Amino acid sequence: MVAKALTQRSAGMPKKCRWTTVCSAAVLLSVIAKAALCGRGIDTTFTSSGAGFRTLPGPSLAEGLRSRATALSTPELTAVTGETQLPAANRWTMLAAAVSFGILGSAVVSTTSPRMARLCRRANSDRADGLAGKQQKENNRESRVSVAATLVDDQVHLVTDVSPLDGPDGTYQVGIDFKNWLQSCVEELDVSNLRVEGSLPPWLRGSLMHAGPAKFEFGDDEFVDWVDGQAMLYRVQILPDGSCTYRNKWPDTWNHRSHRQAGRIAVRETCSRPSIPNFFDRLAAMFSPPNNENGNLHISQVCGNTRCVSMSVGSSCLEFNLSDLSTLGKLPFKDELTEGGPLIFHAEPHVDPTTGEWYTCAIQLKIDLDNKRMKPEYVVFSVEPTESQQPGAELKRRLITRIETEYPSPVHTIGMTSQFIVMIQIPYPLNWDGMMRAEGKWLLTGDYEGNLNDYNTWQPERPTIIHLIDRVTGEHTEIFETDAFFFFHVINSFEATEGSSEVVYVDVVAYEEPPVGFPLQQARSGDVEDWRGGGGEVKRLRLDRSTGKCTMTGWPDNCFDEPKVNPKVDGLEHRYSYGVIDDHGMLRLTKQDHETHQVWKWEGQDVSCELPWQPVFVPEPYNAKEDAGVIMSFVRNQPTGDTFCVVLDSETMNETARIHFPKGHHVPLHGHGAWMQGQF
Ligand SMILES: [Fe+2]
Repeated sequence: MVAKALTQRSAGMPKKCRWTTVCSAAVLLSVIAKAALCGRGIDTTFTSSGAGFRTLPGPSLAEGLRSRATALSTPELTAVTGETQLPAANRWTMLAAAVSFGILGSAVVSTTSPRMARLCRRANSDRADGLAGKQQKENNRESRVSVAATLVDDQVHLVTDVSPLDGPDGTYQVGIDFKNWLQSCVEELDVSNLRVEGSLPPWLRGSLMHAGPAKFEFGDDEFVDWVDGQAMLYRVQILPDGSCTYRNKWPDTWNHRSHRQAGRIAVRETCSRPSIPNFFDRLAAMFSPPNNENGNLHISQVCGNTRCVSMSVGSSCLEFNLSDLSTLGKLPFKDELTEGGPLIFHAEPHVDPTTGEWYTCAIQLKIDLDNKRMKPEYVVFSVEPTESQQPGAELKRRLITRIETEYPSPVHTIGMTSQFIVMIQIPYPLNWDGMMRAEGKWLLTGDYEGNLNDYNTWQPERPTIIHLIDRVTGEHTEIFETDAFFFFHVINSFEATEGSSEVVYVDVVAYEEPPVGFPLQQARSGDVEDWRGGGGEVKRLRLDRSTGKCTMTGWPDNCFDEPKVNPKVDGLEHRYSYGVIDDHGMLRLTKQDHETHQVWKWEGQDVSCELPWQPVFVPEPYNAKEDAGVIMSFVRNQPTGDTFCVVLDSETMNETARIHFPKGHHVPLHGHGAWMQGQF
């Protein structure tokens, strides 16, 4: 009845104003809830792969206040049901609060600064352009998808039966069997004495860890984006006696348990929203504090490479034990970094190869009540190696600097040199209007149509900005500008002295514009389409600190991504990088020489069926040569679905060994990994 009255009341308002009021209420409520929880010591940290700002999520408020951040060790889960068992009186209170905040939201929007209004108009205009462009892409895509679908239907073939050479240049369309690769993992294994073909280097002893999305549906609900898939940890160990083990395990997260126990998508994920039929319960869910336990993309180690962490889009830093992959919970940060708002969009971290200090960058959304506006800041911080190495112990972050910005864009990776953190700000800012509209519609209808285009807006009329930040003092030393480009990954960055000029070089995998968002449900249904448009191009930025000028160079036909360098040269001048290229629709592991531009491929790969994914570089101990070591990569045999870990000599790119996982065990498309030398 109240909803009806609200609807009738709003029906007399202009459409834009109605949306503004409702959507402002939605976002403000969530942001204020987050801010309140931060103030109460609840860690509301997100991390990101850069796919976009996603969610205003969480478990119930009561649950959030009861548990400091995670309910991992609580077998009796009450928070899920909390979403649907809110006392009626509380609902009225929340609704009244929502209306109040709606009015406040309307006031905020209508009185916001001219600059924000200008940016909003620009975002709307860009959005319209983007939608037109998207329609054109959809039209083009339809024809491509129908080709792929026809191949499957008419010839009764898997797409993998088609030779990669038959695929259009520069796409993943034919060569990758996304349909099967993106099915959920169904089992946890703990297996010893894996079958090994070839021989492993005697120094190669330790653990290779990967994280990855591995559960994509609950009941009839299916996530809308790959990054929402519930995390799986994968560990390959080469023991001191040279034998190999494999173990995979679901991190024990509140999010995952909530979904499983409810038999549906029960709590917010980065892109997906829970299926909640009742308006009041959706309203209650909007009050829920962020929880963000997933950790499906990045693996790293803090505190001097001792404590293992998995991270993800919209996820906190989750700590786990390497020995049994058991989950310890969110890293218990004991500092003031999140006061005023949650941290989102953590960049993939760097670990100083000499000191072991762990660096990353995030975005914090603050509310400037005096000026009635959001006040986004980039927050650059580290975890020093002297912090406690005891698993589960509290630790502090070292704030390096805060950089206020009017248009925060996702930062997937940062660069690190001997002196600087290199932070690249692409012209792809958060789109407040789109976010508020999507949240408001979900609140009113239960339908959520949020996607990448709703969260970020490509604004190529803006420059790409490169910030240099002193790692020790936090001094925001210099800012460089260059033409707009998009990127996920910095390959490496380093300093040089050239004559009288102090120079910083940054190698980056650049795209002319953001790639198409990954269509998870479409891909899982077999409608395979191009994903990254053929990969990015390696570009070298030269930042002349004497003149303030930035120049960008590259070389032709260097389609490439998922780069890795020898961690020994992280922040120092490098010559080689390793990654994957798109070779007529199939992925190939490559090594490339940044001086001569020579490219080596894994020649032993059977390109008709063997699909490698992002490599990990393992340096050979006590060998100073930059390319001394091995490349390790999980490889999917597409027709059988089996997986093995290939080991390549990183100097020659010749195959050294294959470590076979158990037959029939499915490893979905996974995220980044890390090697932990001598650790088990
Ligand atoms: Fe990445």
